[in-house]
Amino acid sequence: MAIVSGMRPTGPLQLGNFLGALDNWVKLQHEDKCYFFVADWHALTTGYEDTEKMKENIRLMVIDWLSAGIDPEKSVVFRQSDLKEHAELHLLLSMITPLSWLERCPTYKDQLQQLSDRNITTYGFLGYPCLMAADILMYKPEFVPVGEDQLPHLELTREIARRFNFLYGPVFPEPQAKMTKVTLLPGLDGRKMSKSYGNTISMSGDPDEIREKVAVMITDPARARRKDPGDPEKCTVFTFHKIFSPPEALPPIVEGCKTAGIGCVDCKKQLMENMIAKMDPIYRRRQSFLAQPSLVDDILAKGAEEAREVAQRTMSQVREAMKL
Ligand code: TRP
Ligand code: SF4
Repeated sequence: MAIVSGMRPTGPLQLGNFLGALDNWVKLQHEDKCYFFVADWHALTTGYEDTEKMKENIRLMVIDWLSAGIDPEKSVVFRQSDLKEHAELHLLLSMITPLSWLERCPTYKDQLQQLSDRNITTYGFLGYPCLMAADILMYKPEFVPVGEDQLPHLELTREIARRFNFLYGPVFPEPQAKMTKVTLLPGLDGRKMSKSYGNTISMSGDPDEIREKVAVMITDPARARRKDPGDPEKCTVFTFHKIFSPPEALPPIVEGCKTAGIGCVDCKKQLMENMIAKMDPIYRRRQSFLAQPSLVDDILAKGAEEAREVAQRTMSQVREAMKL
């Protein structure tokens, strides 16, 4: 049984994407056959107006994947738009998907509100979950590693699979969500990490970027002066320490903060060095991948070929079941 997951190429990945999803993909590679794909058609559902940066975004995202440790020898790494079979399956599934299922999908209503500056009252955007169902069912996976925000889509995928099997006979097993144990990384200011708040750190950040960003992080507001004691639980720097620093480094920080034994500047210095140590191998790998101009194209070409073998098999079964 396989594992399938995709990501939309909407720009450079953030440190939060790395800890929340990619890190998990890297581990899954050892458990099962993994299909990881660039969901470029899905990126069009909300970003169809400006496609100028699409190619570059795809390249940089795949380089981020490789830097994190996705191994194209082990996993099938491909681009959705290279597999026309996904479009065919999407079309066929769209025939059996009631409009009401799509309209009542919570992410649909949510996004319509949140992205009110764009016109996404389109056919394609409404069909987002239907396309996602095609992406997933194509490889008949056992698991789909996704974040919580994607659960409604996975539920719909199972409903669509059930309906297909009911109408035409059993073709699709129902995939389960593999909820990633996410390390939720807050933004630099303690709010949710989000590009629109300008509080992010990119996954590909070099040591200088990390130092700069940590230097401006908000600390416990009660520690206005060096001699004021603080509370690490009220401090984003400490939240980051819990993620990036070795466990034995934490008690002295707690103690030092509460007794004003250490200053925030020193506390941040420790954090910077621990973050740099953790991200440095990724950063180095990235530099070497960036220097190889045809690397991503080669990987995507090989991945498409491998994925196509499975996709063609599934589509033969689908056409046969539907008597096409
Ligand atoms: N909707 C997913 C997201 O935004 C991306 C995606 C598209 C996906 N197709 C998929 C994820 C299939 C898992 C499986 O994160
Ligand atoms: Fe935050 Fe560290 Fe300063 Fe305490 S000492 S307030 S944990 S930065």
